[in-house]
Amino acid sequence: MSKIYSKFDKIYSNNIAKTVGFYPSFLLLFILAIAFTACRPDEAAQIQTPYSLQVPDGFTSPLIPDDNQLTFERIELGKKLFYDPVLSRDSTISCATCHLPSKAFADNLPISVGIQEREGFRNVPSLANVAWHPYFFREGGSPSLETQALGPIVDEVEMDITVAEAAARLRNDEDYIKMSKIAYDRQPNAYVISRSLAAFQRILVSGNSPYDQYTRGNQNALTTEQIRGKDLFFNQLQCATCHTGFNFTNYNFENTGLYENYEDEGRARLTADPNDIGKFKIPSLRNVALTPPYMHDGSLPSLESVLEHYNSGGSTHANKSLLIQALNLTAQQQSDLISFLESLTDETFINNPEYQ
Ligand code: HEC
Ligand code: HEC
Repeated sequence: MSKIYSKFDKIYSNNIAKTVGFYPSFLLLFILAIAFTACRPDEAAQIQTPYSLQVPDGFTSPLIPDDNQLTFERIELGKKLFYDPVLSRDSTISCATCHLPSKAFADNLPISVGIQEREGFRNVPSLANVAWHPYFFREGGSPSLETQALGPIVDEVEMDITVAEAAARLRNDEDYIKMSKIAYDRQPNAYVISRSLAAFQRILVSGNSPYDQYTRGNQNALTTEQIRGKDLFFNQLQCATCHTGFNFTNYNFENTGLYENYEDEGRARLTADPNDIGKFKIPSLRNVALTPPYMHDGSLPSLESVLEHYNSGGSTHANKSLLIQALNLTAQQQSDLISFLESLTDETFINNPEYQ
């Protein structure tokens, strides 16, 4: 970026040096405008404003690919696409149909519902802090946000359109042509759609829940129940072995003993390894209270039912993690844990005007 800027500065200041003093200023501006648009159309198209991601205290820096550094223009384009049903065959479904800002960019359906009410096969995950995920989807089948973005567009139960057709639509739209030229110096195409959607999703950062405020020193941010629940979660129980770090996941794949027979085999769908049956990416728990029902298939309707599952130790399965054992929690302990999980709801995140 800085190279482009300095080139631009040079063109600009050379012209000023030559012309200042000889022409009235309006003429100078006019000449500059002509010179600039006539000689340097491509550079003009690339002038962008770098965006610096606000990383909350306690978070690491996310990896942002070299060829898709964040700029306001890329994010703006990705945001417009994220909310635009033009990316679905009958123009009824956008990314935001399933990833609602008010639900931490998830929804409240057990299984996602896409074009013409077609049911998918999994529960919609939240997009909070996806910039830090090392891979995507519940079995980890997609390596980057860039590659992930085209998945739902072509999926026949989600948006059901070819990328070529979606791009052709955007090339009939003056705004998209202009924004795309500025952001990626090319006409709307698969490259532009996937990268801009990835750029927008990387700014969806959630790190200001009452729990975060508490860890930054505000003793009043959590209730006594929540503090008791936090101690259970981190110290007395094994929750934080899996749901660890600032995003409450180590991104491993685990079988929690939800079933004896898994209809959705999870990670094994990708690896075809029987040892991976029933293993799913450990979900972040940020904003979890906003996104019932739970688990990969939305089969547990509430946080109470998730706690009952862990308390019972789950079903017997050869791949079940040894960390999942009956807990014998009291009713009070279960409700303390739920209160703690509720303290991960980040109102700043779901109401952030920058995201809408
Ligand atoms: C019909 C509902 C639906 C639509 C529309 C939809 N998604 Fe999703 N999204 C899902 C579901 C369901 C999953 C989980 C799929 C899986 O794990 O196999 C998901 C997963 C994701 C993930 C991975 C999250 C993670 O934790 O691994 C990202 C990122 C994502 N979607 C972004 C998008 C973008 C960008 C769009 C628009 C181009 C979009 N989604 C459109 C339902 C939808
Ligand atoms: C062995 C690792 C592991 C341990 C230990 C563990 N979890 Fe989980 N947790 C997971 C996985 C994997 C899932 C997703 C399972 C699925 O999708 O079927 C999950 C799902 C959840 C969910 C539902 C999230 C959602 O969005 O659907 C909650 C809530 C949760 N765990 C809380 C806890 C609590 C509280 C504890 C401690 C009592 C705990 N977990 C212990 C791995 C673990």
